[in-house]
Amino acid sequence: MKHHIPDHVIEDVRLRADLVQVVSEHVQLKKSGKDYKGLCPFHPEKTPSFTVSAEKQFYHCFGCGAGGNVIKFLMDLEDLSFIEAIRKLADRVGVTLPSVSPSPHEREVQTEREMLYKLNTLAMEYFVRLLQNPEGGQAARAYLGKREFDTAVAERFQIGYASASLRDLTAYLEKTARCSRAQLEKAGLAKKREHPQEYVDRFRNRIMFPLKDARGKIVGFAGRALGEEIPKYLNSPETLLYKKSQHLFGLDLAREAIRKEDSVLLVEGHFDLVRLFQHGIANAVATCGTALTALQIGLIRNYTRNVVLVFDSDAAGQAASRKGYDLLLEQEMNVKILTLPQGHDPDSFLQDEKTEKFMEQVRNAPPFIESYIKETLKQENIASPDGRIRVVNRVLPMLGGIKNHLERTEWIKFLAEQTGVDAGTLLAETKKNLISAGKTKNVALPPPRAADRVDPAVYLIHLMLAHTEAARRIREQVTLDDFSDPLARTVAGTLFRLVDEGFPVEIGRAVDRIENEEARKLLTQIGFQLIEFENPIKAAQDCIRQIRREGAENKIRELKTQRNKAMEEGLAERSRELQKQLQMLEHSLAVI
Ligand code: GTP
Ligand code: MN
Repeated sequence: MKHHIPDHVIEDVRLRADLVQVVSEHVQLKKSGKDYKGLCPFHPEKTPSFTVSAEKQFYHCFGCGAGGNVIKFLMDLEDLSFIEAIRKLADRVGVTLPSVSPSPHEREVQTEREMLYKLNTLAMEYFVRLLQNPEGGQAARAYLGKREFDTAVAERFQIGYASASLRDLTAYLEKTARCSRAQLEKAGLAKKREHPQEYVDRFRNRIMFPLKDARGKIVGFAGRALGEEIPKYLNSPETLLYKKSQHLFGLDLAREAIRKEDSVLLVEGHFDLVRLFQHGIANAVATCGTALTALQIGLIRNYTRNVVLVFDSDAAGQAASRKGYDLLLEQEMNVKILTLPQGHDPDSFLQDEKTEKFMEQVRNAPPFIESYIKETLKQENIASPDGRIRVVNRVLPMLGGIKNHLERTEWIKFLAEQTGVDAGTLLAETKKNLISAGKTKNVALPPPRAADRVDPAVYLIHLMLAHTEAARRIREQVTLDDFSDPLARTVAGTLFRLVDEGFPVEIGRAVDRIENEEARKLLTQIGFQLIEFENPIKAAQDCIRQIRREGAENKIRELKTQRNKAMEEGLAERSRELQKQLQMLEHSLAVI
């Protein structure tokens, strides 16, 4: 996309924003030598192959090949455009961007989003005021009081109340925000009725929970009926801001605690979550009645890999969590399950029992698989061969989803012990399933150690990155045609341009100039392959010679083929011409 921010400003922003710091907000990094390693946010994995160079300000994943600099990282992780990523970073490091003009469409969407945020915030404040209103909020306050919720926790969640009237909120917002009714409908706060045709408030006579994104901006609302009205919960419709499948209730308040505890409790209901907070348990989020989605797991994954599912003991809860579990495995999360006593949800449990008792259950929560296997065993009669087969058939597909080989084997052994079925048979069966499902894992290639195993073109790229003077010489003596591999040629072309423009040849500077994904991967991969050069200039000369030689040899082979063809076809003139070229090349080869 075309943008109007000068290159030097982009460079300024890039150099000020520390990649390690930015990555750390999404990935847990551990120091490893002079680099940092963590679990790749761009593909599921159990062992860290995502590597960040603090010194050179770029990253590369040896598992999936993703690579780039701080700008690319934000673009990919948060799904931002180049400009959006720059803006975000500029904001962060305190660089003022020259005013840029977004496209009319971008501007329109942005204005609309801002309007919706504004309407939501005004609505939240309106609901909160009403809850606190001596008369208007009395019934709602009584409801919360009866359920033993503190005012403090209600304030923290900015819980409010929507009155029973038809269009209090609509009228208020029209006046305060000077918005149209259509905009209120787009925000999900009003809806259009058919008979009579008019706009009315969407939420009426309900306890209102503002739904916020991870940064705490209000994207929508959930309203809980005060009595037995149907539906019990009414949510915002999908809007420009609110996407049900991408939302986790409470994430804005919980994310710090999740990171600190390195685990998250996943509960179902709004009130479950509020109750946990009231009891000082802050590393929790709620799915709010939706089956867990991959996007929600992706959100959690920014903070931790360890999930404790805290669900009702009823069958529906079990089924829902089973499906969620498959997705969690898919993203290589460690999953435990806390099954509450019959008839309890976290909210009611904590109301009846001590916080400590709940925490003890959290600490003792078994791995999901263990509980699933035991549950299945309870439902089937394993005294009969038939029953054993059913257990195995129900459990094995799930075990197949475990990506870590060791872990998978351990659980297969556990299943064998529990059912009395031979472990070897189970292992063979799982392997068959794995192969048919095509779930073979990408294995990260170890970086080559010795220079002699490196393609000369790649070697030249190493040299250019290692040594400015070597880069200059290579630029002078090698042409892009000397790079037979197209990806290496693309990378080299970019590095050449940096030399031409007088910039230092650095990966962090080069990566976002490369459009081609594969070429970018090659560059960041090269960045982490350590080759020590005793004498870079000499190494460059040797390598240039080798590349030239190879280039000439290729050309000679090609000319020979053409000449032979010309001779066969009786094109004497043409074959003489080719022969002459051949001789010249062979001659020059001798002096390379
Ligand atoms: P409370 O009775 O308020 O404590 O709710 P709960 O969480 O105990 O209720 P339940 O187990 O029935 O539902 C779990 C969660 O699913 C709720 O917290 C809501 O987020 C969601 N949910 C429940 N009922 C409805 C409904 O009628 N519509 C929608 N959209 N969501 C619902
Ligand atoms: Mn409940």
